[in-house]
Amino acid sequence: MIEITDLSHNAKGIGRLNGKIVFIDKALPKDIVEISVIKEKKNYIEAKINRIIKESNLRVESPCIYFDKCGGCDLLNLSYENQIKYKYDKVCNIIDKYLSTKIKINDVVKSSNVFNYRNKVTFQVNKKLGFYGEGSYDIVEIDKCIISDEKINNSIKFLKKLDLNDINKITCRTNSNDLMIIIETSKNELNVDCIKNIASSIYLKHGNEYKLIYGDEYITETIDKFKYLVSPDSFFQINLDVCEKLYDKIKEYVGINNNVLDLYCGTGSIGIFVNDKNKVLGVEINKSAVRDAKKNMIINKVDNVNVICEDSGKCISNIDFKPDIIIVDPPRTGLDGCAIKNIIKLNPKKIIYVSCNPITLVRDLNCLINNYDIKEITPFDMFPNTYHVECVCCLNKK
Ligand SMILES: C[S@@+](CC[C@H](N)C(=O)[O-])C[C@H]1O[C@@H](n2cnc3c(N)ncnc32)[C@H](O)[C@@H]1O
Repeated sequence: MIEITDLSHNAKGIGRLNGKIVFIDKALPKDIVEISVIKEKKNYIEAKINRIIKESNLRVESPCIYFDKCGGCDLLNLSYENQIKYKYDKVCNIIDKYLSTKIKINDVVKSSNVFNYRNKVTFQVNKKLGFYGEGSYDIVEIDKCIISDEKINNSIKFLKKLDLNDINKITCRTNSNDLMIIIETSKNELNVDCIKNIASSIYLKHGNEYKLIYGDEYITETIDKFKYLVSPDSFFQINLDVCEKLYDKIKEYVGINNNVLDLYCGTGSIGIFVNDKNKVLGVEINKSAVRDAKKNMIINKVDNVNVICEDSGKCISNIDFKPDIIIVDPPRTGLDGCAIKNIIKLNPKKIIYVSCNPITLVRDLNCLINNYDIKEITPFDMFPNTYHVECVCCLNKK
């Protein structure tokens, strides 16, 4: 029997057993629980709840019937206010612990939609369709996912009519009208008649190849007054309400009359959003996303943004563009040494760092603080009910 004292950065309840720290899935601070050990390492133990002996007063009933088994959401047993408090404390703790300077941390910007916010979902398929269970590759079959867009949820009963023996994964991307369905399979052909009525496009994916077999090439996402065409393999933010709030903050930092280098630019969405009275160069490594970005400039009638297909870290050592401001929005792994070195060399007056991983954000900030003052960090709740948090940080040249 152990008492939970805290929540880890990936939302595991923390307790102590025989002098070791124990991480317990879906346990909350002040729960008293009986556990089963899943894995014992030299310094820590991973465990699951056998029985809750005394419930924490933080506990709420999960609105999702799959929560106990599914590996998708982590925090559905916590009220939204407490999720926000957890995310704020998490960002503060990481910064206190790892950043070698004190900085201002703003309140977490909330999501207007706590449920049905995801516009992209990947279902795991192996005879049945669902998500991986917590810490396993066993599929938990589902009929609906509480955080996914209703259009995606409504598609599930049709997706289940496909021959699931031949399918590894199905990804759905949606906007308020359309549904793009991407089926990962080893087959060259698949009978998809049962989903044609609900899909605006259907792709088959073999390895890294995408073959359009029905409907439109793109899905179109809208942020504020801008439209963005998105290919099946291009990145796009998954919660558009919070995305717009994040982009507003970036736009406020960017201001006007600046040369802006938008690194890791995806479909050009940030560059296009902040283009007014600025000149923007985007850099992106994914060819499809670059193609989308070029189309997006045309459909949004934007002629002061350009995009190149390069490795962001490497190419900027010899680009013919002198940025006043550099925006970076890298994957979870953060910036590599080469990118940081080249950003410092370009000597912009401002760096705007967008991050979906506060640990790598802080690691990278430590490399920039000799040359830059950190103005502030703002966390955004892009991923309600999960432990993930998006942050934007503004740095000014010393
Ligand atoms: C988190 S997404 C951000 C995209 C975009 N800023 C947005 O808001 O939609 C990161 C992007 O970086 C791209 N990427 C990953 N490694 C890269 C690299 N070394 N150089 C350039 N782009 C890269 C990915 O393809 C992806 O589009």
